[in-house]
Amino acid sequence: MLRSIVMVASSEKNNIESVLQEKRVFNPPADFATNAHIKSLQQYEELYEKAKNDPETFWAELAEQELYWFEKWDQVLDWNPPTAKWFVNGKLNMSYNCLDRHLTTWRRNKAAIIWEGEPGDSRTLTYGELHREVCQFANVLKDMGVQKGDRVGIYMPMVPEAAIAMLACTRIGAPHSVVFGGFSAEALRDRLEDAEAKVVITADGGFRKDKIVPLKIEVDQALENGASSVEKVIVVQRTKQDVTMREGRDYWWHDLQKDASPKCDAEVMDSEDPLFILYTSGSTGKPKGVVHTTGGYNLYTHMTTKWIFDLKDTDVYWCTADVGWITGHSYIVYGPLSNGATSLMYEGVPRPSNPGCFWDVVEKYGVNVFYTAPTAIRAFMKMGEELPNARDLSSLRLLGTVGEPINPEAWMWYHRVIGGEKCPIVDTWWQTETGGIMITPLPGATPTKPGSATRPFPGIIADVVDKDGNPVPNNAGGYLVIKHPWPSMLRTVYNNPERFQKTYWDPIPEVEGKPVYFAGDSARKDENGYFWIMGRTDDVMNVSGHRLGSMELESALVSHPAVAEASVVGVPHEIKGEDIYAFVTLKDNYSPSDELNKELKQHVVTKISAIARPGTIQFAEALPKTRSGKIVRRFLRQIAAGQDIVGDKSTVVDPSVLDQLREKG
Ligand code: WTA
Repeated sequence: MLRSIVMVASSEKNNIESVLQEKRVFNPPADFATNAHIKSLQQYEELYEKAKNDPETFWAELAEQELYWFEKWDQVLDWNPPTAKWFVNGKLNMSYNCLDRHLTTWRRNKAAIIWEGEPGDSRTLTYGELHREVCQFANVLKDMGVQKGDRVGIYMPMVPEAAIAMLACTRIGAPHSVVFGGFSAEALRDRLEDAEAKVVITADGGFRKDKIVPLKIEVDQALENGASSVEKVIVVQRTKQDVTMREGRDYWWHDLQKDASPKCDAEVMDSEDPLFILYTSGSTGKPKGVVHTTGGYNLYTHMTTKWIFDLKDTDVYWCTADVGWITGHSYIVYGPLSNGATSLMYEGVPRPSNPGCFWDVVEKYGVNVFYTAPTAIRAFMKMGEELPNARDLSSLRLLGTVGEPINPEAWMWYHRVIGGEKCPIVDTWWQTETGGIMITPLPGATPTKPGSATRPFPGIIADVVDKDGNPVPNNAGGYLVIKHPWPSMLRTVYNNPERFQKTYWDPIPEVEGKPVYFAGDSARKDENGYFWIMGRTDDVMNVSGHRLGSMELESALVSHPAVAEASVVGVPHEIKGEDIYAFVTLKDNYSPSDELNKELKQHVVTKISAIARPGTIQFAEALPKTRSGKIVRRFLRQIAAGQDIVGDKSTVVDPSVLDQLREKG
């Protein structure tokens, strides 16, 4: 199942080459460091050593100082690989930590969420107001019959109600499963079915790229074709287009909310009670429901937000992700609100009518901390410096990136054009599964090197090993592993503990006699212990920072009546990082045509999402297979990238297939 490291390197060749030559080092600016939470490399190293030598004391002290517990735990960590329990028997509530505890301080009237809609409307919710809305909506959910432990689906645009719904779920102990609003009805249905959601919260539509995304219609379709566990649908009115409301099933959010009581005590949750499920792509066709629990996730997202984004009470902090992804969960909603920060939420994305909208928002609200994805930075680079230069970006003091490797050129552009050469950049490596940021600079402490996520957060024991679990020499590529449990690690794959074991704990045998978490990424470590992430080692692609499984795309393609077989690989792409390239063989009574090519691309969009639209579909007469009938993706990757075919072709039954594909590609 492991894609060879060499192949990863070749598909990301340009990036790796420039990264290997990267020698620049940027020290944290002195005035930044003086005022930072973590002020020096020495302080980071002391914290790191402390956490390494005695992780339980390290985390217990922070849990005690930083969170509110209804009842204290009686054991910090119960580690029975692969099952971790953190703060055993501790009782707390995420929404209480994000809201209630701030109300008794001056933060009651501080902005919790500043929201800007794509059409330019805006709204600010103070901690007091957000608390009220969350309590009301928690009561609405209870009235709908949602009880502690019931799953709630959230399929929303980027509006404050998405955060309100999430917090309301955590208030009553109902795990949410947020499904990105760009997913299709079918993808939504699969996720609702797997989670057996009782209620779905959605909107009539959302504004995205100057168009309306018709969310309610997708929900209707999803429920027509399955997801029979769903009893009620609650609809936020956002775009005001016509929607069909089914009597007894569908309710308007505003109707329910206006009569709901604003008093709702936070449910006393066990530290290990599930907080949410979030689906992510893996190397099989079916997305995995990653399960996060309450105490460890709350603590870890709280600490990483505080130290990595160096939050001050006066900061306006903006993470541009969507709440449908883990980045939105951890670093728009939970981490910032647990810290009592002001979190900016933006409905829009750069679009033809306003490609510079991000800089408008930075100027309008005086954003201080800005966290985005490398793909966005590369797109801005391409558009030129005029757009950012036309806005006042002087409020920015810290920049971050997440989601994929950042090439040094994009890093330097971000540093110079957006950061005015004065803002540290935190390149943060982590995953849906890790819950929070794992490898990252601390901005006042860690000297940065463009393209490197630098060093692990205190408490994270990361390493690079070969497939047998042996350490590899400096700068040699290998598999990225985590050697000690951390508070926000995924606890399981929903309803599939075997897959949890198989995906994350089986691929690498024990290291130093202990099981290790296999991240699915390849990396190298340099002579300073800095990590350089190279890319996925499994059949997962990273397209514009979105994770997509090859098998998921292949199953979508073969579900079309014309398709006999499909094989999907990633090819390097200037802006997206990686693009989808599909090889397709047709059934006998179909022949290749431009129309069919278009139709197949659209078919994938309908089956999964617009983010999964293949950049290229190449029709093929046959695909390269081994004697046992397995398609050899390794060669297809080379063909898709227009490279020479290298490697042992004799594994392929009919090697002439490769030349045919190469000619036609
Ligand atoms: C990739 C997103 C290089 C990586 C938070 C990982 C990165 C996958 C970085 C997880 C980074 C994320 N540098 N690669 N700073 N951050 N990745 O689950 O391949 O959507 O395994 O979580 O994104 O994607 P996910």
